[in-house]
Amino acid sequence: MNKINKIILNSPLDMHLHLRDEKMLELVAPLSAKYFSGALIMPNLVPPITAKKTLLAYKTRIQNTTKNAFTPFMTLFFQNYSQEFLESIKEDILAIKMYPAGITTNSENGVNLLDLKSLAPTLKLMTELGIVLCVHGESSGFVMDREKEFLPIYESLALAYPNLTIIMEHITTKEACELSQKYDNLYASITLHHLLFTLDDLAGGFLKPHLFCKPILKTHEDKEALLSLALEANPKVMFGSDSAPHPKDKKEACGCAAGVFTAPLALQALCSLFSKHKKEQNLNKFLSLNARSIYNLNKTNFINKNITLIKKNFLVPKSYDLGSEKVVPLFAGEELDFSIEEISTL
Ligand code: NCD
Ligand code: ZN
Repeated sequence: MNKINKIILNSPLDMHLHLRDEKMLELVAPLSAKYFSGALIMPNLVPPITAKKTLLAYKTRIQNTTKNAFTPFMTLFFQNYSQEFLESIKEDILAIKMYPAGITTNSENGVNLLDLKSLAPTLKLMTELGIVLCVHGESSGFVMDREKEFLPIYESLALAYPNLTIIMEHITTKEACELSQKYDNLYASITLHHLLFTLDDLAGGFLKPHLFCKPILKTHEDKEALLSLALEANPKVMFGSDSAPHPKDKKEACGCAAGVFTAPLALQALCSLFSKHKKEQNLNKFLSLNARSIYNLNKTNFINKNITLIKKNFLVPKSYDLGSEKVVPLFAGEELDFSIEEISTL
């Protein structure tokens, strides 16, 4: 078979993205907007997004920064909401994101895993209104076991709310991969970094703070399980970068913030990965079509773009300037073997 040197992506979607706010938003949002048609925007700002007014104002700030070249799919931070409120905001959101309290960056106001019963009224309303539930599925146990320990909660949610669409965000383990196949209403997003790295890359030699994220990188076997779902573009999974920028001094610090910044190089690195495995033909499904069917989106719901990538080296910038600070991307200063050739808005 001839080597494929050119890949055309039709409206790539990033179904898990942190854009932050203010200066960071102004820096990172255009980088996603350039290459992606749209993204699911995480609500873990400080304070988190829990009101219609703040959600719409944040959406406007994103649109202003991205010059309307990109569709931000907004999410609310999960808490118990009234029927009246959910009915009033239904059209403005694509999902509600649930975080266990304190499990990751800015999740202090998340839910108490010991009191899941108290979430029932809102989950019932979400089912009735057709609002998707996205979950950061980690317990507060040993760091390598947190996702596995959370899987029974996913199972009980899937069983208790068979008509609720539940997304297991950024899955990282073989067991979560298996669970995604077990219930019709369970789906998963997969990041770039969990497809590429293991705990060994983070901590096996010199410590690499820019690979530190939640959920933490796992084992080789876990990575292989994720890869096989992604490379076959299994319909239960979709791409969600979890690109989560932090200023350089918060990453290269004693008390490193969790999050890997991948937005500006995600498409290049995914082309490289799928090409290495000769699975280029599945990339559009993983990057767009699967998300469209999971979230019930069609072409009228986002800005349509074709992104052409070619086999040509791309030097990832060492950092991006954030006023007097810097933000360091994954693969900073390294070369990837695919680069963006053309972007056409349709
Ligand atoms: C994310 C962040 O920084 O907001 N961090 C991360 O390590 N992924 C939060 C999250 O998605 O867990
Ligand atoms: Zn995230």
